[in-house]
Amino acid sequence: MTSTTSAGRGALLILNGPNLNLLGTREPAIYGSASLSDVERLTTAAAEAAGFSASCLQSNHEGALLDAIHAARGTAVGIIINAGAYTHTSVALRDALVAAELPAVEVHISNVHQREEFRHHSYLSAVCNAVIVGAGIHGYELAVNYLDKVLP
Ligand code: DQA
Repeated sequence: MTSTTSAGRGALLILNGPNLNLLGTREPAIYGSASLSDVERLTTAAAEAAGFSASCLQSNHEGALLDAIHAARGTAVGIIINAGAYTHTSVALRDALVAAELPAVEVHISNVHQREEFRHHSYLSAVCNAVIVGAGIHGYELAVNYLDKVLP
């Protein structure tokens, strides 16, 4: 699913990875009751309030996420990424974020550090400017706030 809006400070790419299309119905005790549409609406509203446009993409396919990051290079001004389980497995996403040369914020709805050991390591954290975990879906708005502060 992709949605795009337009505004003056440039575009933020809002990327959600595997299984996040199931938000609201998937393990609600961990991820809450808001849907992916709710998340994209809230994040887009925060981006637009700060004068950015938002381009939202969710995919269950690693290659589609890679393609979106490649396309952001030169067309977007910042990236917000919740890579879901690919966070813990994907050197390719890490390399793509480096290649994009854009400020990037890694978001996790749950506090991954309170969960299973395998969720404690992220391939993305070291190449992202900021990491927000455990703030629920408000983490996406916090990510927009951060990009609002650091981008022209
Ligand atoms: C998640 C945490 C990941 O470990 C998990 O695989 C997800 C969601 C989060 O937002 O808390 O799919 O990224």
